[in-house]
Amino acid sequence: MNAELTNAASMKKVRKAVFPAAGLGTRFLPVTKAQPKEMLPLVDKPIIQYGVEEALAAGCDQIIIITGRGKSAIEDHFDVSYELERMLEDRGKTELLKIVRHISDMIHLAYVRQKEALGLGHAVLMARELVGDEPFAVLLADDVVDAEVPCLKQMIDVFNETQCSVIATQVVEGPAISSYGVLDVHPADGRFDGRLFEIKNMVEKPKFADAPSKLAITGRYILTPGVFEMLAQTPHGAGGELQLTDGMKLLLQKEKMYAYVYEGKRHDTGDKLGFLKATVEFALKRDDLGGPFREYLKGLKL
Ligand code: UTP
Repeated sequence: MNAELTNAASMKKVRKAVFPAAGLGTRFLPVTKAQPKEMLPLVDKPIIQYGVEEALAAGCDQIIIITGRGKSAIEDHFDVSYELERMLEDRGKTELLKIVRHISDMIHLAYVRQKEALGLGHAVLMARELVGDEPFAVLLADDVVDAEVPCLKQMIDVFNETQCSVIATQVVEGPAISSYGVLDVHPADGRFDGRLFEIKNMVEKPKFADAPSKLAITGRYILTPGVFEMLAQTPHGAGGELQLTDGMKLLLQKEKMYAYVYEGKRHDTGDKLGFLKATVEFALKRDDLGGPFREYLKGLKL
C-alpha cells in the first residue's frame, strides 16, 4: 500500500517501540563482557532509559526490548525493587525513592529473547508477533539523541502525515560516511522545512567515493509491518547475520519510504569516544553537576 492516506478513520498510529538490545557490544569490551552496554550510565542513568523515556514522550505506550544472553540487568532495571524501595522509605530518602519508583512505574515492558546475535534485522524480526499488523518504531539505545523535541516525536509527526516508513538521518561530512548506511534520495518538495526526502535506495557502509549522499541512517526508524515479511524473505549474509537494511531495501520496492533529517544532536554511545563526549555534554547540562564540573574541566591543563 503506497498511497498517503488522508482519511482520518484509516490513519494508523505508532504505539509500539522496539529496542534491539541483544548485540554483543564488542566495541566496548571489556566492560561489556558481563554487562550490557545499554546499562552503561550517562552520568547516572543507563543509556537505554534515555531511549525508553524518548519513546514514551513521543506517545508510544508499549515498549518491547529484544534481549539476549547476559542482558538480565536491563530487565532488573525496569522491574520493581522492593528491597531497595523499602530501604529508601525506611531511611526517609524520598527524592531517591521517587527516582527509583519512576523507573518501574514507567510502563509495561515486554521482553523477547534473541537466542543468537544474528544481526539487527534478525533482532527486529523477533518482535513480529508482539508488534502484529501495525506500524512501529525501532530505537537503537546506544544512539542517544539530545533534542528539544524528542527525535522519535519528530518522526511520528512525519509518519502521521505520510503514513509511510520514516528513517532518521543525519548529515555526515567526509569519509566518516563510510561507517554508516547511506541513503540515495530526492527532496520531498520542501516538506517539513526541507528536512524530508523520499528514499530511492540505501547502501550499507559504502566507500566514500561511492556514497550516494551525505545522509547517514541513524538509530531511529518507523517501519510499516510489511518489513517483517521482507526480513523473513531476506537471506542471511556475512557471518550468518540478517541486516535490517536488506529488509528495508525489499520494502522500498513495495512502499514509499521517507528519510527525515531530525533536529538534535546524536551521540554514538556504543563507541568509547562517543560515550565520553556524551558523558561530558550531559554532565555539563545538569543543574546539580554542571557548575562544579565545568570548573573542574577548566582547571585541567589540556
Ligand atoms: P551494533 O552493531 O551497534 O551493536 O548494533 P553491537 O553488535 O552490540 O555492538 P558492537 O558493534 O559489537 O560494538 C546495533 C543495535 O542492534 C542490536 C544491538 O544491541 C544494538 O542496539 N543488535 C545487534 C541486536 O539486538 N542483535 C544483534 O544480533 C545485533
